[in-house]
Amino acid sequence: MTPVRPDALREAMSRFPTGVTVVTAIGPDGPAGATANAVASLSLEPPLMLAALDLGSRTLVAVDHARTFGINVLAGGQADIARRFSTKDPHPEKWDGVGWSERGGAPRIEGAVIWVGCELGETHPGGDHVVVTGLVTEVEAGEGEPLLFLEGEYRPVS
Ligand SMILES: Cc1cc2nc3c(=O)[nH]c(=O)nc-3n(C[C@H](O)[C@H](O)[C@H](O)COP(=O)(O)O)c2cc1C
Repeated sequence: MTPVRPDALREAMSRFPTGVTVVTAIGPDGPAGATANAVASLSLEPPLMLAALDLGSRTLVAVDHARTFGINVLAGGQADIARRFSTKDPHPEKWDGVGWSERGGAPRIEGAVIWVGCELGETHPGGDHVVVTGLVTEVEAGEGEPLLFLEGEYRPVS
């Protein structure tokens, strides 16, 4: 069977609404972060998360280095942070002016509505991505509304 074209899959899946996260880790050169929506809660017992990171992601290198990572679910007002962390700008530029603190060895972004701290579990090949699983060591959920991504645009919930 012939696989579908990548742009056909991208176009179809753009109509699947998701939240927006920044996956973070402290790499050999300091904090790293990538905007990511291929993130899910995988298991409750044990508590596991998963994230699919592109083979070319510098944050993947940082996760592998630190063996610990964070998932920051962005708030409705944080589209500027989502845009910034989806670039290939040098990491010091991506973090310039962003409020964060180190939690369990990973960067927690100020104002994110959910914070999940993870210890790196398994890595699985997934085509042009790597699926990483993380054992959840800390979770915090705030009151604010999350940012949504739909049809290529960042949107508030309402
Ligand atoms: C809405 C959105 C969702 C994204 N989701 C993912 C994702 O789940 N996994 C991934 O590897 N890249 C994803 N990206 C692309 C990365 O953010 C982008 O490749 C970024 O430059 C990676 O940064 P890094 O090389 O510093 O890790 C997404 C981009 C956008 C705009």
